[in-house]
Amino acid sequence: MSEEGQADVLVLGGGPGGYTAAFRAADLGLSVTLVERYERLGGVCLNVGCIPSKALLHAAKVMTDAEDASAMGIAFGAPEVDLDALRGATAKVVTTLTGGLDGLAKRRKVRVVRGTGTFTSPNALRVEGPDGEEETVAFAHAIIAAGSQAARIPGLPDDPRVMDSTGALALDEVPGRLLVIGGGIIGLEMATVYDALGSRVTVVEMLDRLIPGCDPDLVAPLQKRIGRRYEAIHLGVRVSGVEAADDGLRVAFEGDDAPEAVTVDRILVAVGRRANGGAIGADAAGVEVDDRGVIAVDAQMRTNVAHIHAIGDIVGDPMLAHKASHQGVVAAEAIAGLPAAFDARAIPSVAYTDPEIAWAGLTETAAEADGTPYEVAVFPWAASGRALATHRAEGRTKLLVEPGSRRILGAGIVGVNAGELIAEAVHAIEMGADAEDLGRTIHPHPTLSETLMFSAEAAEGTITDLYLGKRSRRD
Ligand code: FAD
Ligand code: NAI
Repeated sequence: MSEEGQADVLVLGGGPGGYTAAFRAADLGLSVTLVERYERLGGVCLNVGCIPSKALLHAAKVMTDAEDASAMGIAFGAPEVDLDALRGATAKVVTTLTGGLDGLAKRRKVRVVRGTGTFTSPNALRVEGPDGEEETVAFAHAIIAAGSQAARIPGLPDDPRVMDSTGALALDEVPGRLLVIGGGIIGLEMATVYDALGSRVTVVEMLDRLIPGCDPDLVAPLQKRIGRRYEAIHLGVRVSGVEAADDGLRVAFEGDDAPEAVTVDRILVAVGRRANGGAIGADAAGVEVDDRGVIAVDAQMRTNVAHIHAIGDIVGDPMLAHKASHQGVVAAEAIAGLPAAFDARAIPSVAYTDPEIAWAGLTETAAEADGTPYEVAVFPWAASGRALATHRAEGRTKLLVEPGSRRILGAGIVGVNAGELIAEAVHAIEMGADAEDLGRTIHPHPTLSETLMFSAEAAEGTITDLYLGKRSRRD
């Protein structure tokens, strides 16, 4: 065992990457010190990201489902929202999870040190605690898991009404008019929440499409639904200036289709995230960081310094919690001498909007950009009994298949619960399944999961739930 102040493995950052790496390393018999600047473990994801956003999105879904129930002849009154209670319920979810992490760390004898860590050499990290106390932790190996922070737009006023995602999740109030800058995942998830709570939402996105990394046919049903609900969605437009006034924030726009200036009560800036590599003293450890704050790593998550690994948001896109935790396991196992490598064929992405959008593996956008040959098969949810029964038949499920081998290369789903459904496709891609494997797997009826089976049958030309002409009759 190492002495106190010295660790086999030092983990910097207690988010999903860091705590997973720390716990796995401890389970493999290594002494571990985990350094986290904030009181609570869990990082962005548990404290100000995935979890509180999903708690609020659940509340939003309850409200909009109640509205939509009028299509079945069921009418509810307008919801009365007690914001303090909603904030409290969300906070309870967060503290349950983060408290659980403290317990898991304790049981594994992971030493958690609270404070901001800065490397002072390739084998030492100085930690400055909340009350100014200092400690130096010597280590044999390190795993950098210091995450990312919200990117900013220069020139916006320093005004509490201009929020980042953390401010939006704090839910200080429900603004009458909310402008969301950035039509990516954070912007659209938080727009979903505030729209349900009653804000009039405007989204401004500088590119010509929402969620630019995602295939447009998957975004279309979401865009149609929010196009009806929101005040406006401006594509190919940027904010050219914001002026803070007592009665609101006056916003001017630029771009070919730029609208007239508007006044809003709050602005959410959701224009991406920036890796934290610039603020950890990486130089002193000899670890290279690029000008975006990103640290390059190999398949064992090793940086250019062989005994220092890096994982999660700090190693760049995609900045997702499940990628961070998976990489945490790889780094811990590699340090323990196990034959681990990050070689995932697919990392799923999910926008927890309404409807949800999920995709994994090859997308049509990427295939077209780099000339990868593929065949595509689509199953429209308008032919799904379950989707029709729930009055949400706007979804679609598609598979991208490799011509010849028939291997599943990618999948995309838009519709209610797409985020849950995509896991089956990820598994199929990882296992090297072909379309027939998926098409001949018996799925429970009536479920939305059948749409994956049906899209595989459509790929193989064996589908009976659609009529595709000659292709339906292939042997
Ligand atoms: P982080 O979670 O950022 O953790 C890094 C930790 O390191 C932090 O706790 C930080 O305090 C600490 N730290 C940094 N520097 C130091 C230092 N010098 N000393 C000590 N400690 C330090 N991802 C999903 O997969 N699904 C989602 O639904 C999802 N929703 C999101 C919603 C929002 C609003 C946001 C902002 C993000 C969301 N994400 C989601 C992204 C997800 O939160 C991140 O990908 C994930 O948290 C990255 O994990 P990480 O461990 O790499 O870093
Ligand atoms: P993002 O990169 O997904 O989207 C940002 C959007 O803002 C882009 O479409 C971009 O074109 C646009 N943009 C950039 N500058 C702009 C400007 N000046 N004016 C108008 N538009 C501008 O980033 P986002 O939404 O902030 O999320 C950051 C990351 O957090 C995501 O990429 C993802 O990794 C993670 N995340 C994941 C979630 C999930 O898995 N469900 C939920 C939320 C965040």
